[in-house]
Amino acid sequence: MAGLTHPNLVVLTGAGLSAESGVPTFRGVDGLWEGYHIEEVASPEAFRHTPELVHRFYNLRRAALHTVQPNSAHHALVRLEQAWPGSFLHVTQNVDDLNERAGAKKLRHMHGELRKVRCLWCRNVMDWESDLEVTTACPICEKVGKMRPDIVWFGEMPYYIEEITQALETVDVFVCIGTSGVVYPAAGFARQAASKGAKRLIEINLESTDISSHFTERRQGTASVEVPRLVEELLTTT
Ligand code: OAD
Repeated sequence: MAGLTHPNLVVLTGAGLSAESGVPTFRGVDGLWEGYHIEEVASPEAFRHTPELVHRFYNLRRAALHTVQPNSAHHALVRLEQAWPGSFLHVTQNVDDLNERAGAKKLRHMHGELRKVRCLWCRNVMDWESDLEVTTACPICEKVGKMRPDIVWFGEMPYYIEEITQALETVDVFVCIGTSGVVYPAAGFARQAASKGAKRLIEINLESTDISSHFTERRQGTASVEVPRLVEELLTTT
């Protein structure tokens, strides 16, 4: 980027990044929420009233991770992370582990992770591969019935907000990939970045979104094609 030798980069990703790996998006035609009411599975109230349903929903999604692989967009973002000359932060709303499996390190899961669970009693967070049931005992405190997916539900505070806000204070290039821009606070990051003076705001999506007007550049297409293309461009022009 002309005039900046070490530009700061923030990448925000959503379900569109993993769609071509076979992880369903939330709001598309085949969207994951179809057949479920969001509040039935993704809220603390749902967990209190129908924990079996909530566990079943997340158990299926956790198990499905065994059937998917990172795609070219995940790999390209890791190449960007490794070669970018300035500061780099990848903030994802995705709860899958495809970025890590591609090698991502500077990654923050603001909505939690499918392969992590949390004990509401002792508050420990732990890696988890198998199913979670209402009868599951916490391996640390041994309390039964207090284990929940470490997913940020509606009405809960996303993770890493302080660190993300700080990164947006000094961001030069903001890239947003495969998110519908309807869930806050993530949906507000483009506007925040613009207000802090980001010079380039780039959106990659199949279609225009609720937040498209905040970007200086929009690339319409699939993440698997557009992300590798953008990464090569950023690395050759910066
Ligand atoms: P959505 O399902 O709302 O949006 C997915 C976006 O990806 C849409 O704008 C699609 O057009 C786009 N898209 C789909 N396939 C794509 C592809 N191959 N290439 C590029 N773009 C593609 O998912 P999110 O915006 O991630 O929160 O949803 C945000 C949050 O809503 C999720 O993190 C989840 C949900 O409630 C929690 O679970 C806490």
